[in-house]
Amino acid sequence: MYTGWNLLLIVAVLGGQSAGAFWPFHGISNVVSADTPEPELELEPEVYDPTKRVAIIGAGASGSSTAYYLQQFAEKSGVPVNITVFEKSHYVGGRSTTVNAYGNPLERVELGASIFVEVNDILKNASRKFGLRAKDSETESDDLLGIWDGEKFVFTQKDSGWKWWDVTKILWKYGTAPIRTQRLMQSTVGRFRQLYAPPFFPFKSLSDRALDLDLISVTSLTGEQYLANNSIGASYATDIIQASTRVNYGQNLNLIHGLETMVCMAIEGAMQIDGGNWQIFDGMLKASKATVNLNSTVSSISKHKGKYNIKTTSQNATTGEASINQALFDTIVLASPLQYSGIEIEDGLLKHTPDNIPYVTLHVTLFASSRTLDRTFFNLGPGSQVPTSVLTTLQPDQIPSDPEKPCGKPGFFSISLLRKIINPETLEVQNLYKVFSPHSLDSEFLSAILGVPIPKNLSSITATSGDAISWYYPHVWHSYPYEYPRVTFEDSALANNFYYTSGMESFISTMETMALMGMNVAQLVVDELNEVLEAVKEPVQQVLGSHDKQSPLDEL
Ligand SMILES: Cc1cc2nc3c(=O)[nH]c(=O)nc-3n(C[C@H](O)[C@H](O)[C@H](O)COP(=O)(O)OP(=O)(O)OC[C@H]3O[C@@H](n4cnc5c(N)ncnc54)[C@H](O)[C@@H]3O)c2cc1C
Ligand SMILES: *[C@@H]1O[C@H](CO)[C@@H](O)[C@H](O)[C@H]1NC(C)=O
Ligand SMILES: *[C@@H]1O[C@H](CO)[C@@H](O)[C@H](O)[C@H]1NC(C)=O
Ligand SMILES: *[C@@H]1O[C@H](CO)[C@@H](O)[C@H](O)[C@H]1NC(C)=O
Ligand SMILES: *[C@@H]1O[C@H](CO)[C@@H](O)[C@H](O)[C@H]1NC(C)=O
Ligand SMILES: *[C@@H]1O[C@H](CO)[C@@H](O)[C@H](O)[C@H]1NC(C)=O
Ligand SMILES: *[C@@H]1O[C@H](CO)[C@@H](O)[C@H](O)[C@H]1NC(C)=O
Repeated sequence: MYTGWNLLLIVAVLGGQSAGAFWPFHGISNVVSADTPEPELELEPEVYDPTKRVAIIGAGASGSSTAYYLQQFAEKSGVPVNITVFEKSHYVGGRSTTVNAYGNPLERVELGASIFVEVNDILKNASRKFGLRAKDSETESDDLLGIWDGEKFVFTQKDSGWKWWDVTKILWKYGTAPIRTQRLMQSTVGRFRQLYAPPFFPFKSLSDRALDLDLISVTSLTGEQYLANNSIGASYATDIIQASTRVNYGQNLNLIHGLETMVCMAIEGAMQIDGGNWQIFDGMLKASKATVNLNSTVSSISKHKGKYNIKTTSQNATTGEASINQALFDTIVLASPLQYSGIEIEDGLLKHTPDNIPYVTLHVTLFASSRTLDRTFFNLGPGSQVPTSVLTTLQPDQIPSDPEKPCGKPGFFSISLLRKIINPETLEVQNLYKVFSPHSLDSEFLSAILGVPIPKNLSSITATSGDAISWYYPHVWHSYPYEYPRVTFEDSALANNFYYTSGMESFISTMETMALMGMNVAQLVVDELNEVLEAVKEPVQQVLGSHDKQSPLDEL
């Protein structure tokens, strides 16, 4: 069945030609800037501990991956590290998390990031290593995917297989645009994939790398411009590609940049982890042997004698009392968007403070219903088959002028039938749906799409209330940035021994790319610690012997 990030598998099949073209690289600028040293402090050799304490703030994809690779890279280069992860919520995974339908832990449903793909090496390797089962999207024979423009379906497709007549149909309607889109995607994604290995890995400046890999030319244009530049017809772009950018990012092609547009078309081998993608990140944290503090909100960061002082607030689950803790760290990795972290950072501590950027406010609504979608809502006549899942797009002359109010006439981004599910109270088979929309749903809308009355008070719905909806779960996310075209991205390093992962989100916001940023930052952390350890090895010996010299050790 259709579940988000696997739109247009048919297109993927069409475009199965050579991926990963070789791209010559232009001069890489991997210059490490010479940082101004802190004022030197008195060395206290008797308390000197070579173990470096690293704090990671956030246990989502990027923080967990940082911990995982940090442990590995540090071990490989003989840098002793002690890793602490602070996470303000009570769970691991961040925007990758499941909820239990009907409160049943055996019926987990993805609430955030649900799909990753074949080329996502980090997620794929880690899930294999942790023995997690990846599954394809479930498909049933009566599944039908429709793309709705608020008045009519501009495209429908049997989602149950890649039958030859579907292929000819899509070719007939859109000419060679699907194939050309797929080739364009492969060359773009092929360039991106060079970030995984030397000489492009690791990177302090994503802006420099984007330039090196000629990806700035893709991020600097809107999807619309990039597709037009590559002679991909407007009708294929609006009907098909925009349906994908809307379901994946809540954005139209007149806003979202070319690179994120291409990511939306990279859906070959879409999969998800049985029981929840968050298990990958849980596995990473366990493998890292880090101390993981859940329910611990980092409230402030300041400098103390060349180290970072982190203040956290934790709530005691039994007494409800808040407690404040402080600890010193050599290195900090902020693995969450700064603007939503609520962390107070001492003035002057950062060399550069990341800009606030607009994020999409996305309402994700899960519900289970005995009903299927109603044909009258979608202006279909008697006898027509109603799609089981609906993506949306806009008519070319109806693009909203405010790009941050992109939804337009359809009123929602997508309604996806995820799977069948049993109501545990009545034992009736229900349809489990997921809706993405820019605002919360109300009973009027739900009544209209299901064709039956739905109670005004949606919180009163229970498995036994006898309503057409028997489980209802709404959630609001700051899901991802509005991916405006841009040519610069936040650096991975914000100060000496202070790293940041979320700059990647304006480039590509996915679990895999955030995990890649985690892996990147882990290497940078180890390199920086190693550099200084190497540099002071000799002086340390001298200092330990003579006690009369200052050492740069305390700058760490
Ligand atoms: C509805 C939705 C659908 C998506 N679909 C997909 C998809 O199908 N495939 C895909 O690859 N990506 C998808 N994404 C994007 C993907 O979820 C994100 O790009 C990725 O998960 C971000 O990971 P992160 O670790 O950078 O941030 P987060 O997952 O947000 O993790 C940051 C963590 O930091 C914690 N934190 C914040 N402040 C503090 C503090 N002060 N102290 C302690 N902890 C703090 C937060 O609680 C959070 O757990 C989707 C996102 C959403 C919302
Ligand atoms: C890391 O440091 C903390 C705090 O000092 C300590 O409790 C913990 O045992 C250390 N972990 C490892 C693996 O050394
Ligand atoms: C975190 O807080 C939640 C809710 O207050 C509680 O249920 C959970 O047990 C706490 N977890 C930890 C590890 O303290
Ligand atoms: C994933 O595994 C493959 C095969 O073992 C390996 O070649 C590749 O380097 C790994 N990639 C990452 C990012 O771990
Ligand atoms: C691509 O788009 C840019 C910006 O819109 C434009 O300046 C350039 O001429 C276009 N190139 C091609 C080949 O169409
Ligand atoms: C919470 O408070 C109770 C009662 O004071 C105490 O026994 C328990 O250890 C506390 N839990 C934590 C995680 O501090
Ligand atoms: C809606 O239902 C819930 C649960 O039954 C109840 O707590 C709440 O007061 C109701 N709200 C209104 C506005 O009636």
